[in-house]
Amino acid sequence: MGKTKTQPLTAATSDKHWLYERSVQNPEAEIDFIDHVFASEYDRKPELLREDFCGTAFLSCEWVAHRAGNSALGVDLDGPTLDYGREHHLSKLGDRAERVTLVQDDVRAVQSPKADVLAATNFSWWGFHTRTALLEYMVNCRASLRDEGMLMLDIYGGPEAQVPQFEERECEGFTYVWDQDVFNPITHEYQCKIHFHFPDGSEMNNAFEYDWRLWMIPEVRDLLLEAGFHKVDVYWEGADEDGEPDGEFVVSEEGDTSPAWVAYIVAFR
Ligand SMILES: C[S@@+](CC[C@H](N)C(=O)[O-])C[C@H]1O[C@@H](n2cnc3c(N)ncnc32)[C@H](O)[C@@H]1O
Repeated sequence: MGKTKTQPLTAATSDKHWLYERSVQNPEAEIDFIDHVFASEYDRKPELLREDFCGTAFLSCEWVAHRAGNSALGVDLDGPTLDYGREHHLSKLGDRAERVTLVQDDVRAVQSPKADVLAATNFSWWGFHTRTALLEYMVNCRASLRDEGMLMLDIYGGPEAQVPQFEERECEGFTYVWDQDVFNPITHEYQCKIHFHFPDGSEMNNAFEYDWRLWMIPEVRDLLLEAGFHKVDVYWEGADEDGEPDGEFVVSEEGDTSPAWVAYIVAFR
């Protein structure tokens, strides 16, 4: 269900996946990033992308639409969410739809076909709460990659990440509300939610709820090396002349002390 010119969005007329894709996801930017990082390392373009925790497979479908020869494997536990992707994204790919395979399974249980790139975005891998569980996932990722292959994880942090707070952002026709509900400084247990508010005053609360651990870059790097990856780079976001994030990510060993940041961790097989 989407926005029309005559009918403003309301909680009753909106679909949570439609809202999520427009407020949270940016597959074009991720595809550019993946192409750039992979080509920098291997001097060619990647073809098979595996999207872990793929949800509606928005990235997988954009990947296949992006370049002839591309194919994608999306893995997610949730059947209805995958069905939404089949109905709204695969259906628009025409002949290329056969280049997208969706698997309903645990990401730790899938190892083939082996991919050039494995992407786990929007912090979904934070669902693994223990070192043992995250390491098991990383070992499986490595086993799921071709010899020339990379794993891309996004991560966020900074002092503001550890403060229970609401953050509102205006989107076209609705307001996205990020709710950092619970943070435990000892365990890093982290519960977050997404709500959507509408111009008529209606609200879609708890549209998405996450039970996460807030992982830190050094411990994630250590685990990736322990899992056998031979190189782990951190891509840090640059800033424009006003000091605002500019969407350009470059390899860094220093970062900066922004109150809140998003970065990519890229591990090469
Ligand atoms: C935050 S959503 C991410 C959706 C999409 N990847 C994105 O970038 O926005 C998390 C998804 O991970 C799935 N999920 C959680 N644990 C999983 C697991 N162990 N294996 C496969 N999918 C899992 C959920 O069903 C949910 O669709």
